Amino acid sequence: MSSTAASVSSSSSSPDSDFIGRSVVTLDDLTTEQIALLLRKAAYIDSHRREVAHACDGRIIATLFYEPSTRTRLSFETAMLRLGGQVIGFAGAQLASVSKGESIADTLKTVANFVDVVAIRHPKEGAALVASEAVDIPVINAGDGGHMHPTQTLADLCTMQSRFGRINDLTIGLCGDLTFGRTVHSLIETLCRFGNVNFVLISPDELKTPRYVIDRIRETPSCSYVEVKDLVSVIGDLDVLYMTRVQKERFFNEDDYLRLRDTYILNEDKLRLARKDMAVLHPLPRVNEISVEVDADPRAAYFEQVKNGMLMRMALESSVLGDDLPGFDPNKKE
Ligand code: CP
Repeated sequence: MSSTAASVSSSSSSPDSDFIGRSVVTLDDLTTEQIALLLRKAAYIDSHRREVAHACDGRIIATLFYEPSTRTRLSFETAMLRLGGQVIGFAGAQLASVSKGESIADTLKTVANFVDVVAIRHPKEGAALVASEAVDIPVINAGDGGHMHPTQTLADLCTMQSRFGRINDLTIGLCGDLTFGRTVHSLIETLCRFGNVNFVLISPDELKTPRYVIDRIRETPSCSYVEVKDLVSVIGDLDVLYMTRVQKERFFNEDDYLRLRDTYILNEDKLRLARKDMAVLHPLPRVNEISVEVDADPRAAYFEQVKNGMLMRMALESSVLGDDLPGFDPNKKE
């Protein structure tokens, strides 16, 4: 089943019922209305933890992680546990039958007999799409190579929404590894759908934003972008500074990684040049790109971003399973 042709209800049904059975390989698999609905569900879940604690009773998620993860895997799993469901899976392909040569499709066709929904992370671009096409249950992309990381984007949007009360009419600086940083690609493409965003793309020449992502901005009349190398000269213009790690695992050449890894380090001195209400986001893990001293600054939003990731995954898991959140009204906008 393809991600876009997943077993959804008819077009006359609501955004909530249209979620049912849907795979999410990229956020293009969801309408902007559905993304907005997930944001409302996450806010509801945060303030109604007890009410939603049995929303997914009897459900099981499989987390199939062929690549390292701390936040994404544990938050997918915690999300299901907090909704009353259960979890199976593996973290590290060396312990699964892929090490004997099993294909992704065969692994998915096997696991689909056991569970109701799958979250998959894989080092190869396109792996999540292959997985979603192999089975009839929803498959959620938890990161495929340097391509996309849609649920990280949901966490990012939730953090902007909670900090600013909106996800557009913002100037957003993205800084660091804009070539291999899949979270950057997902975030830019999704923000373009909501419109009215000024992107400031801050990177060395070797780590610039891929052309297909730039094209997405260019195709959006209400969005604009500039590409710069210097963080200090633009930090004062930003509502959001989205820092990224230089992705060592995607470099072909260790020398290039060592030369580029510390290009940008956000510290207290640089933060003094920023607006008082700027939000610093980072998908984490960080290496050196944000000094630990910044953590105590109220503008540091990256650990609250982790919590928001869990809330958005709770919203997404219950939605694709068609499990109602007790007391939540999907038609109530505020
Ligand atoms: N943000 C993120 O994907 O973190 P992990 O690699 O720890 O899952």
